[in-house]
Amino acid sequence: EKGGYPHFMLKEIHEQPKALQDTMTGRLYPDKGEVRLDDIKMTKEGLESLKKVFIVACGTAYHAGVVGKYVIEKLARIPVEVDLASEFRYREPMVGKDTLVIVISQSGETADTLAALRESKKLGARVLAITNVVGSSVSREADDVLYTWAGPEIAVASTKAYSTQLVALNLIALHFAKLLGTISDEEFREIALAMKKLPDQAKAILDAEGEIKKMAERYADREHIFYIGRGLDYAVAMEGALKLKEISYIHAEAYAAGELKHGTLALITEGVPVISLVTQDHLYEKTLSNIIEVKARGAAVIALANEGDEEITKSVDHVIYIPRTHQMLTPVLSVVPLQLFAYYAAVARGCDVDKPRNLAKSVTVE
Ligand code: F6R
Repeated sequence: EKGGYPHFMLKEIHEQPKALQDTMTGRLYPDKGEVRLDDIKMTKEGLESLKKVFIVACGTAYHAGVVGKYVIEKLARIPVEVDLASEFRYREPMVGKDTLVIVISQSGETADTLAALRESKKLGARVLAITNVVGSSVSREADDVLYTWAGPEIAVASTKAYSTQLVALNLIALHFAKLLGTISDEEFREIALAMKKLPDQAKAILDAEGEIKKMAERYADREHIFYIGRGLDYAVAMEGALKLKEISYIHAEAYAAGELKHGTLALITEGVPVISLVTQDHLYEKTLSNIIEVKARGAAVIALANEGDEEITKSVDHVIYIPRTHQMLTPVLSVVPLQLFAYYAAVARGCDVDKPRNLAKSVTVE
């Protein structure tokens, strides 16, 4: 059942090239300049009437939502707010007819997410669901549904669900941008072609996992690991830290690199590992200066950078490269080494990777 892999989690990490592919099949046509999302019935007029989009989810799905905010705002120019379902539902959210609420849930059964969906509908909002389970509660109750075709996810730690949620959010952003006329044909084609390459690029990262395994084993005895990044890199840093915490029980925190100075830098001492994501060209120099700051305090820096970035090797202890893609799509690739890092660190510590303590796959109680 594990297809020759020692754990479901590793199997599911390796299923990502196919899951990404399946989530795009029949939906994205770079040369025709089309994105076909048949189950999303929102019209141009409907979109134009929107004042705001909320993305509401829990855990890893929430982290996908943080990326979703970036891509929808960038391409469709609609303001997006991301919220944890357990916060959103209790704070009288400013939601009405002019609001679209996007809920993201792998299982489609998470209690807080489902409650947020119901509350939003009651307030008159349209609800679009991104889910992996056909016929789930979320899929039945939403106005529009976009399925991720990740296949069953058994391991408690979410991997292929996250990366396919990112693809789904990019498809939505492209679809909205097309309808609203906020994207040029050229930019559409560039992003769509880059998306089509993601499955092969993810595979290339997986083929080189030995290197990440070694690095994870080297740092697996640590009690604290920090993740830093800016922009989309910060969004992925949050997901990387969650993955490490939940399966290896190493204390991990993600920080927006520019926030370090406002407190966290006090925790950076000799030998503390800092995983630094530097895939965003327009933020490169800024993040690099934060890397230099943590290095100066003795941190062991592992950089996650774009292939071809030789410059970074001068300032860090190790580099993990990801293949070059469109700047908006880097999260789909940069999360893969972080998933592998968490997995191999957990294995090295003898943890029950597929069933971490205190956690359940589907959180149907509040
Ligand atoms: C972490 C993880 C959880 C889920 C969260 C939401 O690896 O799996 O944080 O992402 O419980 O679950 P769904 O997406 O089913 O609503």
